[in-house]
Amino acid sequence: MAEKIIIDSDPGQDDALAILLALASPEIEVLGIVAAAGNVPLSLTERNIRKICELAGRSDIKVFAGCNQPMTGPLVTAEHVHGATGLDGAELPEPTMPLQEMHGVDFIVETLMDEPAGSVTLCMLGPLTNLGKALTKAPEIAGRIKKIVLMGGGCFEGGNITPAAEFNIYVDPPAAAVVFGSGVPIVMMPLDVTHKTLTTRARVNAIRDIGTPLAYAVVGWLDYFERFDVAKYGSEGGPLHDPNVIAYLLKPELYCGRQCNVEIETESELTKGMTVADWWGVSGRPKNALFIGDVDADGFYALLTERLSWLGREELARQPMLRLV
Ligand code: RIB
Ligand code: CA
Repeated sequence: MAEKIIIDSDPGQDDALAILLALASPEIEVLGIVAAAGNVPLSLTERNIRKICELAGRSDIKVFAGCNQPMTGPLVTAEHVHGATGLDGAELPEPTMPLQEMHGVDFIVETLMDEPAGSVTLCMLGPLTNLGKALTKAPEIAGRIKKIVLMGGGCFEGGNITPAAEFNIYVDPPAAAVVFGSGVPIVMMPLDVTHKTLTTRARVNAIRDIGTPLAYAVVGWLDYFERFDVAKYGSEGGPLHDPNVIAYLLKPELYCGRQCNVEIETESELTKGMTVADWWGVSGRPKNALFIGDVDADGFYALLTERLSWLGREELARQPMLRLV
């Protein structure tokens, strides 16, 4: 039985790889993808999701636009990392598949109410605004969500948009507080683990060796996406964040972590958006999240590369003149 998921995403090159990984994997049934405002504004993220689906040959996927700004405060974006389009590094044609009329928040609520309770997993790849709004609008959905797997936060690794906060949480701390306070089982993929899945040259070259137009687009994204973090951290490659959410669904054995309490700082100007993880259990607060701290990075890239090689070949079959180089 395939794992039924809703993806909430703000592409973002790393989001794109996560979506491709999900669409390439028969173990997963994508019920829909909701665009979040984050890396770039909503008008771009919803279009980027449709571009990514069409690159994967999946114009059947239902794509929805969510909220265009956080629950409170102005939208913070990350063009400095992802480029003006959010998908800089590869040129994709304008999408022709439709954007669904329904609001993304309503899609989340209606799907959770229509599907059997406990059968749908939410995969959160961007700021948590849409889910925060859905839980506020319809608190009854909390008991119907199988689990939430989210990329966000950090502990020993600190922050990436401020010294204390990771971007997805920082953009909408009140929404994150609603999610982490919902009682829904949460698997958290923080910077502590995503900073261990670096886009080294060997790993990027293995993706390039797939030799399809899709693989070449992915390599273009990775080459563009990593430049900011390589310059910032001096690492060999940049941290590939969001695909870890989908890889966890496919191969949880690649990961290890600790169930602990995680709270969100929503008030302090200095530390707003910080995920305060009680790693040593000193607070006595409920252990509301599985905080993933480690990963088999080679196993992660082997899975990602294998699945990417399953995509796009149909396109190749249709266009035999496309070169494999
Ligand atoms: O901090 C990294 C996260 O913020 C990733 O999800 C990236 O795509 C951005 O949304
Ligand atoms: Ca993202």
